[in-house]
Amino acid sequence: MARVFSGIQPTGDMHLGNYLGAVRQWVADQDAHDALYCVVDLHAITLPHDPAELAARTRRTAMLLLAAGLDPHRCTLFVQSHVRVHTELTWVLNCVATMGELRRMTQFKDKGQGQESVSVGLFDYPVLMAADILAYDTDRVPVGDDQRQHLELARDIALRFNHRFGETLVVPEAAIPPVGARIMDLANPTAKMSKSAESPTGTIALLDDPKSITKRIKSAVTDSETEVRFDVAAKPGVSNLLSILGAVTGRDPETLAGDFTGGYGGLKTATAEAVVEFLAPLQERYRDLEADPAGVDAVLGEGAAKAEAIADGVMARVRDAVGLLPRP
Ligand code: TRP
Repeated sequence: MARVFSGIQPTGDMHLGNYLGAVRQWVADQDAHDALYCVVDLHAITLPHDPAELAARTRRTAMLLLAAGLDPHRCTLFVQSHVRVHTELTWVLNCVATMGELRRMTQFKDKGQGQESVSVGLFDYPVLMAADILAYDTDRVPVGDDQRQHLELARDIALRFNHRFGETLVVPEAAIPPVGARIMDLANPTAKMSKSAESPTGTIALLDDPKSITKRIKSAVTDSETEVRFDVAAKPGVSNLLSILGAVTGRDPETLAGDFTGGYGGLKTATAEAVVEFLAPLQERYRDLEADPAGVDAVLGEGAAKAEAIADGVMARVRDAVGLLPRP
């Protein structure tokens, strides 16, 4: 079975865009793959963060993933900082990666811009991500298009390592989901729905209550025509609603457009109702998990142990390949 690995940052509350764009694929991959999913808390400290919030956010993200359908019996779900190999392997890979290739990372340029001082950790973010992936002999990495460059770097680092020290690391492939899963901001439909959006009115968090979901969808930005038609370039707002409705009902957005002849009101109502209905079971599972913190701890403890067993083996090969003295 091919091994898949992916990670998600615990930076905020997961939203519908994360779920439909990525997490749903993770859930689907559980059966046909040996799947590992990681809440990457060490990546979250590469930018200024609130220490009082991080642990709670990490737990919340893990609980949301479980509520969304990750099943600890069918996949390995764990927290990055619980498995020390991630940082240990990062160091070794730091000695293989070059300053030049890290400087070219567009996400570093974007995130570093305007910051008074940029941490070494932010610069090194892609090497930590490479370590996440390479520590598990990963075959496939399901990520969004925005992570393509980081994945390419992970491949380059693995190839260079193998060239320099002998065949040691598995070179992973990207599994970029087909377009259509791109959910845009409701208030600004040419930008991706994002946790860091300037205004929260364009985002639907997975735990939002039915009233605010309905309100946000009803006030989504559309255009001054009245015709419902799927045309991302000319009608980004309407097309986004059709994409959302299509994604949560399993129907094709272009076909759906034909159902709405009387202006945008009907589309908005139908989308709001469908999203509320779609999220209800997830929200219920989340409440159950919230009521059972010991159960969640047990899942994360077992996940870390399963992950560690794999990563320790890979790290032993890496130590041997680079010539570190075995601990007596
Ligand atoms: N950088 C990824 C993101 O922001 C998160 C991530 C960290 C990741 N490590 C990973 C994704 C390893 C895939 C594999 O989305």
